[in-house]
Formats: sequence, C-alpha cells, structure tokens
Amino acid sequence: MFDLKGEIAIVTGGSKGIGKAIVYALAVAGATVVIADIDEDNGKHICNELSGSGFQAEIVKTDVTDSKSVDSLVHYTVNKYGKVDILVNNAGILGDAPITEISDEDWDRLMRINSALLCF
Ligand SMILES: NC(=O)c1ccc[n+]([C@@H]2O[C@H](COP(=O)([O-])OP(=O)(O)OC[C@H]3O[C@@H](n4cnc5c(N)ncnc54)[C@H](O)[C@@H]3O)[C@@H](O)[C@H]2O)c1
Repeated sequence: MFDLKGEIAIVTGGSKGIGKAIVYALAVAGATVVIADIDEDNGKHICNELSGSGFQAEIVKTDVTDSKSVDSLVHYTVNKYGKVDILVNNAGILGDAPITEISDEDWDRLMRINSALLCF
C-alpha cells in the first residue's frame, strides 16, 4: 500500500503490542525502523525476524522517560542514517492495578511514560 523505501522511522514501544505491529508494517513497506524500547530482548527478536526476511530494523534500548536516553537515541539515529522521517510516539502502559488501587508511585510512573512525547 505504501512505498517507504529510504525512509527512516523511530517507533517508541516497538517491542510489543501495537508498536510491534507498527514496526512490522513500516519495515515491510520498505522503511528502516529503529525500535526505541526498554525491552531489548523482544526488540532483538523482532529485528532478527525482520532481517531474516530482508527487511531492516534495529533496537536501540531507550527509556522514553529519561531525557539522556532519548537524546542518545536521536543522536545515534541521526548520526547513522542522517535523518528521521517518521516518528511514532507509541510507548505507553496501563499499569498492573485498577485505577482505584494504583499506588502514587505507579501512577507517577504511568503518567511519565504515557505523556513522554518525542518531537523534533
Ligand atoms: N491496547 C489497547 O487496547 C490500547 C488502547 C488505546 C491506546 N493504547 C495505547 O497504545 C500504546 C501501545 O499499547 P499496547 O497495548 O501495544 O502496549 P504494550 O504494553 O503491549 O506495549 C508497550 C510497549 O512499550 C514499552 N515501554 C514501556 N515503558 C517504556 C519506556 N519507559 N520507554 C520505552 N518503551 C517503553 C514496553 O516495553 C512495550 O514494548 C500505548 O500508548 C497505549 O496507551 C492501547
């Protein structure tokens, strides 16, 4: 449906769930995808699967709540590929407890992750 050859994409939270589906869709359409996720193992598995089928993806372990980690992701990507064409701010969590029972600490963490939007 799309031809994204030569396009460089970053997908936050791309190691699982909706983000993983987005990574596959972009890579199969021809983009080179950088997965920015704290889950490096699942990310590596996805990249191996995609590269085995001739598509391009790599995992850069990133915590979207940590500005140094995000800076490092962006510098790495721009140094290696020269640009970023597509940015998918997908990383987010629901938390493990019902909203009425969630601890203040877990609520703060949830809000930090869900409101962390990369933009440039
Ligand atoms: N699943 C749904 O029904 C649904 C509905 C509406 C919106 N959403 C939103 O869609 C997005 C994806 O949801 P999902 O169900 O696929 O989630 P998921 O839990 O399946 O995957 C989330 C991914 O984000 C990663 N992640 C978590 N914290 C991170 C951090 N600090 N830095 C980087 N990566 C981090 C996880 O490792 C995981 O790979 C979320 O933002 C969610 O709020 C989901």
